[in-house]
Amino acid sequence: MDDLRDKYIKLITEADDESTLEDLRVQAVGKKGEISLKMRELGKMTPDERQVMGPKLNALKDEINSALSAKREALADAALDERLRGEWLDVTLPGRTRRAGTIHPISQVTEEVTAIFADMGFAVAEGPQVESDWHNFDALNIPGHHPARAEMDTFYMHRAEGDERPPHVLRTHTSPVQIRSMELQGAPIRVICPGRVYRADYDQTHTPMFHQVEGLALDTDISMANLKWTLEEFVKAFFEVDDVELRFRASHFPFTEPSAEVDIRCSWEGGQLKVGEGDDWLEILGSGMVHPNVLRAGGINPEVYQGFAFGMGIDRIAMLKYGIPDLRAFFDSDLRWLRHYGFASLDVPTLHGGLSR
Ligand code: DAH
Repeated sequence: MDDLRDKYIKLITEADDESTLEDLRVQAVGKKGEISLKMRELGKMTPDERQVMGPKLNALKDEINSALSAKREALADAALDERLRGEWLDVTLPGRTRRAGTIHPISQVTEEVTAIFADMGFAVAEGPQVESDWHNFDALNIPGHHPARAEMDTFYMHRAEGDERPPHVLRTHTSPVQIRSMELQGAPIRVICPGRVYRADYDQTHTPMFHQVEGLALDTDISMANLKWTLEEFVKAFFEVDDVELRFRASHFPFTEPSAEVDIRCSWEGGQLKVGEGDDWLEILGSGMVHPNVLRAGGINPEVYQGFAFGMGIDRIAMLKYGIPDLRAFFDSDLRWLRHYGFASLDVPTLHGGLSR
């Protein structure tokens, strides 16, 4: 028995992984292990012999089992130590302060607009940038040969040869998200839809990709007065002024009737724009009461529901609020520009905490 003991204790001490240890366990104290077989022999002994050998064998079995589990623990500790050594990290090293990024003015303004409308109960909706011809035009009451299609300088997607369906387009405005939101949610509804839009156009105030935010509010009792109040509240909050005068100018859009373009009172002094005072007017958005054909296209009964919609250029209001003169620079990825016009990444705009501070 001493030989048996010495043999296994030595083997266990020398084992250097889990599976060797497991093999040793089976070999020694498993069902058909050496020690287990010896225990079986107890049955053939005289009672006197058994009284001596029984406790000895049991003690040996216990000793081997404890040696096995002690070794197993030691192996696990060693593995953990090894891992900790490999993953060691000096948290006292100084940070790389010059690498701090900034939030792009478009992202900042989108967050500001979202915070303001969220406070008035509008949810954010999104739609695809590659849009069906139907959602971008027909559903918005712009049929096949309507001049508005040509005015929009649309980018058309490639169409497979022999495919007679109208090609998809890069959406020319966020208005198709009105249709998608009506299809998805029905009425009543209150959503804004910020996002990228595309038109083939390029100069100081136009880039082929730019940003709009659409607004849509439908219910049984919504009037032009609600539109006016909503936009006034928005403009005051966005430009962070107490008083602002809006001018609703009669206009025409296929998807609204009546339609209005909205200007804000402002002044230009020494190239500096001031909102809310002066004798100039600046156009900031298009709006109106949603056309019955548009409601029908979205699956909504115009005899029951009505409401307003508006569409605003995000880049435009960002340029106005933060005095950024050239739109093209927004998308040049010039680090000096981004550092100059960017916003601190942890200052999330909220109405209670301040929009732009
Ligand atoms: N979709 C128009 C554009 O891109 C903007 C617009 C005008 C949206 C009036 C509206 C609206 O929802 O009612 O020029």
